[in-house]
Amino acid sequence: MVDGTLGAGGHTASILERFAASRVLGTDQDPDMQGIAKERLAPFGDRVAFGHSRFSELGEMLRDDASFPAPFDGLPVAMLFDVGVASPHLDLPERGFSFQADGPLDMRMDLRREVTAAGIINQWPEGELADLFYQEGGERRSRAIAKRICEARRRAPIVRTATLADLVASAIGGGGKIHPATRVFQALRRAVNDEGPELEAALDAGLDFLGEGGVLAVISFHSGEDRVVKQWMTKQVKAGEFEAITKKPIQATYEETKGNPRARSAKLRAAVRIRSNGGGV
Ligand SMILES: C[S@@+](CC[C@H](N)C(=O)[O-])C[C@H]1O[C@@H](n2cnc3c(N)ncnc32)[C@H](O)[C@@H]1O
Repeated sequence: MVDGTLGAGGHTASILERFAASRVLGTDQDPDMQGIAKERLAPFGDRVAFGHSRFSELGEMLRDDASFPAPFDGLPVAMLFDVGVASPHLDLPERGFSFQADGPLDMRMDLRREVTAAGIINQWPEGELADLFYQEGGERRSRAIAKRICEARRRAPIVRTATLADLVASAIGGGGKIHPATRVFQALRRAVNDEGPELEAALDAGLDFLGEGGVLAVISFHSGEDRVVKQWMTKQVKAGEFEAITKKPIQATYEETKGNPRARSAKLRAAVRIRSNGGGV
């Protein structure tokens, strides 16, 4: 199978343990993750191979025999996408995802990307920033925040996560259940990493590369993403390409979220391919 979001290798390790005959091609856009995963998955030897790709590059990688590592051949029987950031991203302030610990305003999961969160914050026009916070973060006070950011950046570029978090808090105040900068940080992360189009590319890779009986499984972490997955799967079911396995998304149990609070908002949807187009064509 293909694990398109290898991360620290947790899912891949579970699959290799549970299914003795399984082999996994684990790939991620962040090569730092590969280092962590390689160590964890070393006991599985050549049952696992590693790739470095974005979802939008997966097709190219799978089509290119030279980079499709032995002992893999034929079509994958399952493709898994656990979209979003990995815990090490959030826990390392230097990656710039966290408003709780100060770091450079970066937020790139793939360091080959040129545009960082600081680039967007300091260069985009005020109206475009407001639209981004509203559309990608669901932030209703987007105009007030964009105005405050543009006033501040005229004095000095905004280059630290803590500076941005303080500016947002000063524009809209605190007091809610979540940190006031949560939605702005989510919107920026989505823009920096092109997350909307990347999710579409992941789903399309499932359509292109799964053979009959192959399973596409997607875990998403916010309602906008889950809606995209749901609508895509509904369309494919209507078109006779997939059959739904999950009528409703599967969510973590209360017990699981106690040990892993970040699983709270995760939703898993899966569908099985009922017709094959020959794979990757
Ligand atoms: C939630 S983590 C995955 C954790 C993993 N399932 C595990 O068990 O350790 C998400 C991972 O997906 C990767 N990722 C997110 N968007 C991606 C994309 N468009 N292309 C490739 N990898 C992506 C991130 O770099 C991150 O490592």
